[in-house]
Amino acid sequence: MTDLFVPPFPEPLRTKAGLVRRFVRGWNSWVHTLFARSYTMKMGRVALPRLTIHVVNDLAIVARVLDDPERRYPKHRVLNAMLGPLIGESVFAANGKDWADQRAMVNPAFAHTNLQRGFTRMLGAAEDVVAMMRAADAARPLDVDPLMTHVTADIIFRTIFSVTLSPQETQAIYKSFNRYQIEAQRGTMLAINGLPRLWYARAARRSAAEIHAVLTRIMRPRFEARQRGESPGQADIMEALMDARHPETGAAFGFEELVHQVSLIFLAGHETTASALAWSLYLLSEQPDLQEALHGEIARETGGGPLTFEAVRRLEGVRNLFRETLRLYPPVPFLPRSVLVPEAMRGRTVDPADLLVIAPWLIQRNEANWACPHAFDPGRFADPANAEAVKTAWLPFGQGARLCIGAGFAQQEAAIILATIIRAFRLVHPDAPRPELTSRLTVRPRRGVPLWLTAREV
Ligand code: HEM
Repeated sequence: MTDLFVPPFPEPLRTKAGLVRRFVRGWNSWVHTLFARSYTMKMGRVALPRLTIHVVNDLAIVARVLDDPERRYPKHRVLNAMLGPLIGESVFAANGKDWADQRAMVNPAFAHTNLQRGFTRMLGAAEDVVAMMRAADAARPLDVDPLMTHVTADIIFRTIFSVTLSPQETQAIYKSFNRYQIEAQRGTMLAINGLPRLWYARAARRSAAEIHAVLTRIMRPRFEARQRGESPGQADIMEALMDARHPETGAAFGFEELVHQVSLIFLAGHETTASALAWSLYLLSEQPDLQEALHGEIARETGGGPLTFEAVRRLEGVRNLFRETLRLYPPVPFLPRSVLVPEAMRGRTVDPADLLVIAPWLIQRNEANWACPHAFDPGRFADPANAEAVKTAWLPFGQGARLCIGAGFAQQEAAIILATIIRAFRLVHPDAPRPELTSRLTVRPRRGVPLWLTAREV
């Protein structure tokens, strides 16, 4: 295992940061506030002026908190303050019975993302982005990060609304989302440190309103047509959300609720997958042998013909590349929870106001769970010795009751996009510094992922 490639991640601080240092480093990225022992400890505590944080890495407690059959560990109010302007009280942010009712309403919408039906839409979007890559200026490295945002946003548009997304619309949304992430992150940093955050809160509301405006332009005419009793009859997520009825009252979502659910599905459904895909392409660019092996796997499984639903399911190597990327760069690095009543955990008392953090970022890089945890080794997912770790210490999609609704969707679209790109190009990392990461709502490459792409013979 000595010559495994260790891709970049922020050098942990040697000792726990004091208040000021933590604030400065956390201003742009949460992961940068971690220190060496964060990666090995079972549980840690950080006291901020307005918030006590408990970081839990103990797998038994993690399972208890996330499985949560009695709904005793709601999401923390910090999360709602961060995401509220964009996603309101939609299923990702809701708690208790309200969450259970909403999840029951939203679940059928995801039957529409039924993997087989979504396949053709996903493949179409993947082929379109490869065409954009072929058309790009070959004289300089191409930044694949915004392209991954484009293709995943396009897929989510095709599956929510049955329409494709123009590069101009992607740009508008991309910019508003990036601004929103920065403003929400900084507003939260100020709030938990007891400082006023008014300016950032207002700015975040403005960016959220810009995103809502793009979505509303599409949603309003369909909603109104539906109110008039006309149905466009499109088998997509928007239609299923309009069909959804509250399990007890039988009420449908109102327009504002719909905008929040769609904003959430749009945010959760593209930003995360885009991040993991950009990292996957970076990792591939450093591993020419792996590229050849995966190219061979794709050729074998497709027999040189088009990608099919069945062939994509058989691409174990491509899937393991994506799983390993999600281990090293989980797009959602921290899951925030709280307790309803004071609770003892490893000899400490966690109070209802405290923030309980389950950190896929730390659990997946902890040497007690994974050998050579910072090294890139997609083969570990094919090793039966890691079966238990895959179950308990690989949680990029969360775990238990609130497991990501889109986990299957994301892994299928990722396999399709990666396979389409690997078939079309050889990727080489330029002679330039490796990508740096920043972690706000998601873990993203800080200055993009510029790569040389050489077209393969078709
Ligand atoms: C690689 C891609 C993705 C990653 C890493 C990811 C990660 C996550 C995680 C960690 C959670 C649970 C958060 C928590 O427990 O605090 C979650 C929830 C959720 N995700 Fe994903 N997700 C991805 C893709 C998607 C896609 C494609 C969709 C929809 C099309 C989606 C929709 C949702 C929704 C609606 C929830 C809320 C579930 C609930 O609270 O009941 N996600 N996701």
